[in-house]
Amino acid sequence: MSSVQSGDLERWERRLHLGAHPVLYPLIRGLGYRRRVQRIPGLGILVSEAGLLREVLMDNERFVKQGPSASGGLWTPVVGPKALLNMDGAAHLEMRRRLGGAFTAHSVAGIVEPAAARLREQLAGELPAGRRVDVVGAVKELSGGVIARILGLAEDAPGRLPDRELYDLGSSITSLVRLGRHQLTPAQTAKARAAVERLAGPARKAYRSGAPETFPGRLRALGMSEQEAVGVVSAFVIVGTETLVSFIPRIVAVLADAGRLPALAADRAALPAAVNEGLRFTVPSPMMLRDAVGSGTLGGVRFRAGDRLLLSTVHAAKSLGGFDPERTVPPHARQLWFGAGPHFCIGMPLAMAQINSTLESLLDLYAQQPWQIVSRRVKRRVLIPGYDTLELANER
Ligand code: HEM
Repeated sequence: MSSVQSGDLERWERRLHLGAHPVLYPLIRGLGYRRRVQRIPGLGILVSEAGLLREVLMDNERFVKQGPSASGGLWTPVVGPKALLNMDGAAHLEMRRRLGGAFTAHSVAGIVEPAAARLREQLAGELPAGRRVDVVGAVKELSGGVIARILGLAEDAPGRLPDRELYDLGSSITSLVRLGRHQLTPAQTAKARAAVERLAGPARKAYRSGAPETFPGRLRALGMSEQEAVGVVSAFVIVGTETLVSFIPRIVAVLADAGRLPALAADRAALPAAVNEGLRFTVPSPMMLRDAVGSGTLGGVRFRAGDRLLLSTVHAAKSLGGFDPERTVPPHARQLWFGAGPHFCIGMPLAMAQINSTLESLLDLYAQQPWQIVSRRVKRRVLIPGYDTLELANER
């Protein structure tokens, strides 16, 4: 099978986007087809073409994240000014350099594997017994387990919140953000800060103990101050949860709808290409924001200092076409769904470990006895399109 233009795939994509935002998603994608760059009164400058998106992302001199209408405006009041995703320039580069040492293959496995093993057990207990499994719920547990490790919480830590509650706490922060909103209200900021403080408690404890086997302890060993370590840990919880809880159920549905499961269950060689194409096709991080700090032209449109740029990854990636794991993505669009340049997703190894372990577990079970999607419900009014539930059960 080469190009899959299955009606089912496109129909579900449309429903997911309409569910998330019935007006803005269709508007942004529709506008993107008209021009590569355009000024939209009240919203900012919309950039929709992959090459231009990359140009902006690579230029951290003229386009920054710490400004008032990019991540800075949104997250600095919640997590403080040193949380990586709201930093730029030399300080940002230095923090990235230090963090490089925190993501060895060994440390990523240490963060993901305990929760991935629990997920494997859950799936192997439920599906063969003829019970339904909700992939969204299962991935929320996985994500909560990863959050626990990022906070430095051991499995048997006294009073440890269950994985699902840790996920809910993280999600209570991200769910405050909506497409088209650049700042939180004072009440939302207070709510988000309270959630961050609850998460920061264990991270501070692990940092102070200096235990090198914990993530905050490693950040301390890499020379970060406590404030920086708490900022980074909060950033990971904020950016790393919803993207995966959106993506993993979506890739499961895409592979099922495209009829790819039997071949992948029998031979995993094509799995990396299918996952990469699934990321392009679903675009779990649909929009990036920057503030212009200089003036000039971009794709023939003039911009001035203070302009807000909306980088429409969703348009840039999806305009390449339908789901086709055999496609060759042009170099300027490659991995754009993880960003580009100095802010390129630092959590990518963690994300890939969670995606691959979940898919491997599901494909192992499929090889023993095929399962199918028995029900699904689309999420409504959210920043990142996704499923509320996606239930699987063994075929009878
Ligand atoms: C499929 C899953 C994911 C996707 C598609 C994704 C996508 C992205 C994108 C597009 C950016 C760049 C944003 C920009 O330039 O404005 C980014 C940055 C970031 N991501 Fe991810 N991400 C994913 C998972 C994760 C996970 C699991 C974590 C951590 C646990 C994470 C942590 C971060 C952080 C901390 C940044 C900010 C980096 C910086 O500003 O230097 N991400 N991600």
